[in-house]
Amino acid sequence: MTAGERRWLIAGNWKMHTTYEEALELAEAIQRRCPSLPNVEVILIPPFPWIVPLVERLRGSSIALGGQTCSAYDQGAYTGEVSARMIAPFCRYVIVGHSERRRLFGETDEVVAAKLRVALRYGLRPILCVGESLEEREAGATLHVVERQLRSACESLSLAECERVVIAYEPVWAIGTGKPATPSDAQSVAEWIRRWFVLRFGDVGKELRILYGGSVTAENAPGFFKAPDIDGALVGGASLDATQFCGIVEATQSVEARSE
Ligand code: PGA
Repeated sequence: MTAGERRWLIAGNWKMHTTYEEALELAEAIQRRCPSLPNVEVILIPPFPWIVPLVERLRGSSIALGGQTCSAYDQGAYTGEVSARMIAPFCRYVIVGHSERRRLFGETDEVVAAKLRVALRYGLRPILCVGESLEEREAGATLHVVERQLRSACESLSLAECERVVIAYEPVWAIGTGKPATPSDAQSVAEWIRRWFVLRFGDVGKELRILYGGSVTAENAPGFFKAPDIDGALVGGASLDATQFCGIVEATQSVEARSE
C-alpha cells in the first residue's frame, strides 16, 4: 500500500477542556465547517462525559468519536476507571499511552500494553502514542525510546490486531509548546516506525497509519502531510478551535501525491 492509498486520519484530542455547552457547540461548529472527504477520517476525542451526548449530536455525520484513555482492566472494583467495554459502543478509537498519562499519571509501558490489549479485545482501534522527552532527544535516545514503547505494546500482536492499530508519534517536547518537530524529523521517525512494523508484520506495516502530534496547526499541517510516512495528525490545542481544526482536515487535500 502506498502513502496515497492510506486513508488520512485527523483526530482532535480535547484533553480536559470544555464545559458541556462548549463541547456541544464545538462539535456542531466542526460538523458544520469540516468538509466531508472520502479519503479523510475525522475523529473527535472529548472528555468521557461528553461522549454519549456527542454521539447524538453527530448522528448522520461522518465524524466519529474516540476515548482519551481506557482502563487496563476489564471491569470490577476499580473506582474512577472507565473501561474499553463501556466506551466501545460509542467510540471507534481510543488513545493509549499519551505522554500526559505516562508522565503525570505514572503509566508504564506495561500498563499501556495492557490498555492496548483490552481496547482491541472490545473492538476499539487503539491510537498508541510514542515519543521521546527533550532529555532523551538530547541524549540521542529517540529511536531507543520509541522502539521500547513499540516493542512493549505491539511485539506480540497478531496480524489481525496489528491492522487495527494506529501509531501517533508525539515528541513530548513538542506537545502544547507551540514548538513542533520539523516535518523532516517527524518523517524520519515515522519512516523508522513503519520499517519496524514491516519487519514484524510484513504488508500490514505498509498499511499502518502513523500520525504526527505536537503543536500541529492549520498553518504547519501541510508540511507534515507532505511526508510520505505521515498519514494524519493527533491534534491537541488546535482541535478546540473549529476553524483551526477544519483547516488541518483541509490541509490533507493540499498534498497532491505523496511518494513512497
Ligand atoms: P498539542 O497536543 O497539539 O496541543 O501540542 C497534541 C497532543 O497532546 O496529542
